[in-house]
Amino acid sequence: MTTEISPTSTQRTPAKGASTPAAKVADPSLAAQGQLKIGWAESRMPVLMALRARYVPEQPFRGARIAGCLHVTKETAVLVQTLRAAGAEVSWSGCNPLSTQDDVAAALAAEGVSIYAWHGMSTQEFYWCIDRTLDFKPTLTLDDGADLIFSVHARHTELAATIVGGTEETTTGVKRLRAMAADGKLRYPVIAVNDAETKWDFDNVYGTGQSSIDGILRATSMLIAGKNFVVAGYGHCGRGVASRAQGLGADVIITEVRPTAALRARLDGMSVMTMDEAAELGDIFITATGMKDVIRERHFRVMRDGAVLSNTGHYDCEINLKELEGIATGRRTVRPNNEEFTLADGRRLYVLAQGRLVNLAAAEGHPSEVMDMSFSNQFLALLMLHREGREMTKTVHDLPAAQDQQIARIKLETMGLRIDELTAEQQAYSTDYSAGT
Ligand SMILES: NC(=O)c1ccc[n+]([C@@H]2O[C@H](COP(=O)([O-])OP(=O)(O)OC[C@H]3O[C@@H](n4cnc5c(N)ncnc54)[C@H](O)[C@@H]3O)[C@@H](O)[C@H]2O)c1
Repeated sequence: MTTEISPTSTQRTPAKGASTPAAKVADPSLAAQGQLKIGWAESRMPVLMALRARYVPEQPFRGARIAGCLHVTKETAVLVQTLRAAGAEVSWSGCNPLSTQDDVAAALAAEGVSIYAWHGMSTQEFYWCIDRTLDFKPTLTLDDGADLIFSVHARHTELAATIVGGTEETTTGVKRLRAMAADGKLRYPVIAVNDAETKWDFDNVYGTGQSSIDGILRATSMLIAGKNFVVAGYGHCGRGVASRAQGLGADVIITEVRPTAALRARLDGMSVMTMDEAAELGDIFITATGMKDVIRERHFRVMRDGAVLSNTGHYDCEINLKELEGIATGRRTVRPNNEEFTLADGRRLYVLAQGRLVNLAAAEGHPSEVMDMSFSNQFLALLMLHREGREMTKTVHDLPAAQDQQIARIKLETMGLRIDELTAEQQAYSTDYSAGT
């Protein structure tokens, strides 16, 4: 593999007339390690690789300029490579200051991808990176949390006229974009990739479920069995985390604001209570709500000595760290991604990954097998927008339900599994309103 960046430089600017685009990554010398990781992911993403094989000859993205703002992981690299292989030009930034895998970013930069991403960036640098991807004047945007699309709408409105569409990867982003569309503020069509069944019901449940536990384990090395494990939010992500913690032998406590979700949690065998009650009992806490201030000062004040606090919702506001800092008398880092806060009475609380997505900051994010389906949806959504975006209304669109079945079918095939098909008689029976007992 050729490395086009000098190992001593962290920034590459295009020379006049050069074909290599600009990039800024932490350490270009990590490229070979990143490429190995990407190869590992490729071998576990058969659906996306099948799309790549199918669309390389056709080059359907020719003329498309895609700006992406999504966690720079090995799986994302497979998506980026697939989009480029199908003819797109791509410029990328990470969607979280702590989630970039520097070796993967280096590998992409070495391949000539325009990428601005490094682990541990400041908020100012985060938006600087987004702005660099917008310098590229995209025709399509891809978001995970809507920071890129909000940047277009707030600071680069002149670009909206030439962008044919955007996609959104996560629940928090989709909720906000739907609100924006309802207010008539959305300036180009967006596809809610998150809401596809083969995304929301798999990535958020099984992906977040496993990788959040992975993040907690890497940051603490704690035994989960026998612990009181509090999950705030029993939606898609919360359900995944809770069932995995239960499987590891924890007593799982759910806090919720939605009665049906709380009821489902109870019937799934979890305890249900308010955060005020759970705060006194929990050994490990994780928020998965997309809401701010779920755990705050009055909860910190009653927590057990040694309690561990983490978050797997999109933004770092679910645990109110400012309030914790306000009542702490000391703080120190005790392990990577694990900070101890001491309170006036001597109790110690441990915050993982600065209250940011624990699965991406303290572990590697979702396993490749599940991102295979999410990113196949991304690829097909971008293709739809590239082809039809100009005719689509400026609102949030869902992916066709048939696409879910198609992706799931290919996934099952790659797993060596076959399922039954309805016979013609069964199909007729399902809609026969004259049939009875
Ligand atoms: N960590 C990851 O890699 C990852 C992956 C996918 C989604 N996400 C993010 O995780 C968050 C949750 O996503 P989801 O798909 O599970 O959403 P969801 O809508 O399915 O579930 C969220 C749940 O949180 C509950 N909730 C809201 N406010 C609450 C509060 N104050 N206390 C307790 N419960 C509350 C809601 O009632 C709902 O049941 C979002 O921010 C999403 O963007 C993270």
